[in-house]
Amino acid sequence: MSRKLLVVGNWKMNLTAAQGVQLMQGLDDFFRGSDNVEVVVAPPFTAIHSVATVIDFDKMRIGLGAQNMYWEDVGAYTGEISPTMLKAARVNYVILGHSERREYFDEDDVVVSKKLRAALKNDLLPILCCGESLEVREDEETLEYIEEQIRAGLKGVNVTDMSKVTIAYEPIWAIGTGKVATPRMAEEVCAHIRHVIDDMFGLESVAAQTRILYGGSVKGDNAELIFAEPNIDGALVGGAAISADSFIPIIAAAMR
Ligand code: 13P
Repeated sequence: MSRKLLVVGNWKMNLTAAQGVQLMQGLDDFFRGSDNVEVVVAPPFTAIHSVATVIDFDKMRIGLGAQNMYWEDVGAYTGEISPTMLKAARVNYVILGHSERREYFDEDDVVVSKKLRAALKNDLLPILCCGESLEVREDEETLEYIEEQIRAGLKGVNVTDMSKVTIAYEPIWAIGTGKVATPRMAEEVCAHIRHVIDDMFGLESVAAQTRILYGGSVKGDNAELIFAEPNIDGALVGGAAISADSFIPIIAAAMR
């Protein structure tokens, strides 16, 4: 089964609304859409409305994502953003369980799983992140660790909803460090994730259709080799996604 490559720019806590609009205009000059590659940007909440407006106005073929959300629809949860609010803001993807959320905001697998099911219930497309620390890798426990995160994150997910789920494998030691996993390392883990999904849902077609992204220091000069791996279906990009000059070469690599 062929899977369309997906390149997601996670802006993290970068760019004001005005800076986000400028970046989108830079992307618009280059990317007019592609049948083979899907591009998504995930701005901070404060820039989502402005970015959505540019996408609509310029009829850009770029999807809109959020970087996080809460699992309840409404209520007294000061500072939180709900799935229904994201839907109303024309967001379609939501990144969940990013290692920075797990590390700095104490999100564990139970929280991630609640968020994931809430996203699906509201017809958002979750991007479930997983990734090991350097310590776990050095202890040669990477595959077991990732398997646990995937099984916990996807717990309770209905097989029919799996067509909406994307997985992102982001080794923590490769995030923002310039240390990219070798394509072989990344492929080994992504292949294992596919195997775990196959085992969990008991349907080869589900595993075969699920997109699995790699993230961690993806740049224009390493993206092509990563995309060439059979079980890697795109990238979740951080640092290189916050300027058009560095994001465009990654999209270009996916289009080759
Ligand atoms: P970098 O591309 O900056 O390493 O970040 C990766 C990441 O965390 C994307 O979610």
